[in-house]
Amino acid sequence: MNKDEFLAKYAVDRKNTNSVKWDGMAGEFGSAELFPLWVADTEFKLPEAAIAALQKRIAHGAFGYSLTPTAYYDAYFAWQKERYGIELHREWLRFGTGVVQSLSTLLQFLTQPGDSVMIMEPVYHPFRHVIENNGRQVVVSELVEADNGYQMDLTDIAEKFSNKEVKVLMLCNPHNPVGRVWSEQELTDLLELCRQEQVIVISDEIHHDLLLEGAHFTSALSLKDGLYRDNMVMVDSPSKTFNMAGLLLSHVVIPNPQLRDRYDQQQEKLSAPAGNILGFVAGEAAYRTGAEWLSGLLAVVADNYKYLQEHLQAAFPAIKVTELQGTYLAWVDLSAVVQEKDLKHLVQDEAKLAVDFGSMFGKSGAGHLRVNLATTPENLQAAVSSLVKTLQENQA
Ligand SMILES: Cc1ncc(COP(=O)(O)O)c(C=O)c1O
Repeated sequence: MNKDEFLAKYAVDRKNTNSVKWDGMAGEFGSAELFPLWVADTEFKLPEAAIAALQKRIAHGAFGYSLTPTAYYDAYFAWQKERYGIELHREWLRFGTGVVQSLSTLLQFLTQPGDSVMIMEPVYHPFRHVIENNGRQVVVSELVEADNGYQMDLTDIAEKFSNKEVKVLMLCNPHNPVGRVWSEQELTDLLELCRQEQVIVISDEIHHDLLLEGAHFTSALSLKDGLYRDNMVMVDSPSKTFNMAGLLLSHVVIPNPQLRDRYDQQQEKLSAPAGNILGFVAGEAAYRTGAEWLSGLLAVVADNYKYLQEHLQAAFPAIKVTELQGTYLAWVDLSAVVQEKDLKHLVQDEAKLAVDFGSMFGKSGAGHLRVNLATTPENLQAAVSSLVKTLQENQA
């Protein structure tokens, strides 16, 4: 589907729908009159077949305790196999009510209080919160910004694995907020090190459908014909791809039967619900029919990215817009033109942008903005013009 068709059919005004991004803006930023480019959801409706499936299920009217539909497994497994060559098995798969909730449950049985858990900052900030909220220690290995983009620092990772007795590594692939889609070689090097050091990997692959042209996604599950599967858990969800975070559904893929048993015990201890019938209904239809819809979404993201990059860099060649390989989140380095102490005032109060400031993702994110591109071109373009104008006035 091309961009115009997608926008005509699926763009929707989310104001006054209890949307965190729109209706929570005043609470978070002190004003409701900003360009909303923060929370990682989109301004688009689900694929039409998913909406129709929800309508049909809702029209039935009864919502008692429900099983996971067999059709859900079939649709998700076919999507993963056809698009990425990932082979999944029904017995490996568990469900949660969100990826962050699943990450928390995983840490509760994979580690003990006080254990060290590694993250690579700058990274999606709930990684740190989940570790700290569970009384575990955060160990950071900083990503390194090289000429060819952000890289993992394997030497630093190896050193910290042994010095800090790291038990779990939380991997983000594609990496929010720096937009890297890790290559097969990079992942193999990392997972091999984890295997040797007996560090369990939680691979958060929630952004894996959001690939820009030329990007090739490899799941940690598929490396070396599954060599690392026993030493890892993969989490993802249809929520990021299809804009259904409010339907509360996540996947936890655990090929190792011992780890799976321990996950099940932990879920039981928490009396945790496993999934949500409306999430299954919408997700099944979206996986079964959503390929065209997704190509439309990605066309919007690609054009918004191009606009942002070209306009910011034309006005200020020193601004760095990181190459976007995956996710719909642009990572913009304004440090050459704005001091960190002035960033919030200029961007939020003057330019009227509601964005996530880089320092939220770790110390090394200072001076950066994370800009959500899964929005209408009107919203994005008006925001970019406003930012450029503010920065120009600030320099004058
Ligand atoms: C890497 C990553 N993991 C998890 C989530 C959130 O998932 P959920 O809403 O299912 O908890 C996000 C949302 O932005 C994310 O970027």
